Amino acid sequence: MTLASGLHLRLEDISGRMQLADITAAPDPQALYEQLRDEWGPVAPMDLEPGIPAWIVLGYDEASNVMRNELLFSRDSRNWRYVRESSLPASSGVSAALSPRENAYYLDGMQQRRLRAPLDDALAAVDQKRLARTVATTCEAIIDRLMSREEADLVSEYAVAVPVLVMTELFGMSPSDGDTMHELSQALHAGGEKARVAAVEQAELVAELVATRRAAPGEDLTTSLVNHPSHANDAEVMASIGVMFNLGHDAEIAWIASTLHMILTDPAFAARVHRGRLDLYESLDEVSRRNPPAPHVLPRFARQDCELGGRRIAFGDAVVPAIAAANADRAVRSDDPWEELGSRFHLTWGAGTHACPAHRIGPLIGRIAVDTLLRRMHDMELIVPADSVSMSVSPWSRYPRSLPVRFTSRPAGGGFRSEQ
Ligand code: HEM
Repeated sequence: MTLASGLHLRLEDISGRMQLADITAAPDPQALYEQLRDEWGPVAPMDLEPGIPAWIVLGYDEASNVMRNELLFSRDSRNWRYVRESSLPASSGVSAALSPRENAYYLDGMQQRRLRAPLDDALAAVDQKRLARTVATTCEAIIDRLMSREEADLVSEYAVAVPVLVMTELFGMSPSDGDTMHELSQALHAGGEKARVAAVEQAELVAELVATRRAAPGEDLTTSLVNHPSHANDAEVMASIGVMFNLGHDAEIAWIASTLHMILTDPAFAARVHRGRLDLYESLDEVSRRNPPAPHVLPRFARQDCELGGRRIAFGDAVVPAIAAANADRAVRSDDPWEELGSRFHLTWGAGTHACPAHRIGPLIGRIAVDTLLRRMHDMELIVPADSVSMSVSPWSRYPRSLPVRFTSRPAGGGFRSEQ
């Protein structure tokens, strides 16, 4: 299909569409983005799942426009043709993530602003020093348990364990409820019938948490959300907790796991992170730009026929900003490595009204997690061939499924310097 002949094509009429989850699971997604760019330009057709098409936005300017222009591109899936026409099959894997919901991430305009205010205010009230101590203590405790074995899976036993426990603490949940929240959020990603059951179970668990904090307030995000005047009822409080927990811990897992993956497989990168804390922080930021925790964000839905990147988008089409592709877009790439090091031209934390509300505390969790691990675990090496490490299969996040390593241990001590 040539670019010129494809300009006015209807999404559904384009054959041979790539699957979004195949892009995230590929060893080199950038090669696939490049292939799509060569064939289609900055906006290409693909499938959210077999037979459910959408546009993937690969260009930095185009992705940024989609995320900032909510008048044209809505986050509310009631504007999606497949929801309007009730044509999603019952077995659809993406339906759980794409069905309408009453929280800030799924709404636009005044409704989004009203439900976004509690998230911003609750996160602004988080005491960063206390959080830094919580993260450091959590990391040390997890590593203490691993030390006797000298072998571990750094994904399930660290990159997942740390964010789950930290989020659990932030929301004032019990550790076992935190584990259940994580397992249910994995089922939500998987879609289908399992996702529907998981959504109900997660709602029950969160309802209990809300009731507990209403009766006995604490110093946690749940209490801040329960007390926020913008929430009209407890269903809205529950929706805010659910979206923060699910998006937040998932992004942190991906960031920590991707960084550890690079440390274990890229000697030049490993040498840099061991040079000192500033190099480590810069390296982590670089991972978040090159290998963003959210490589593709949830679609926007065209409110009217329009043009994007030279392509005609029809009213009701789904449009997925591909942050990983946009960050690497040649138009914003520089040949000067120093310029790129401090680059601000990236969409890792989003843009526009849905940009990440946890931009302040998000980096803190990932930095302390990686810093503490490097201080305690030495001579870490993968005990499987690097090319056998496969990626989690989800359209929305990308990180290694497991990183089995051998290491030598250092006792706790020194702690995390809280100059954060
Ligand atoms: C590695 C760390 C993180 C990264 C890279 C990240 C990235 C992002 C991105 C790209 C978006 C925009 C999504 C879109 O426009 O479709 C977003 C939104 C969001 N993030 Fe984060 N995030 C991180 C950590 C967190 C944490 C720790 C929390 C919660 C404590 C959180 C809560 C949220 C919420 C609730 C939204 C939706 C906001 C809205 O729609 O108004 N994120 N994040």
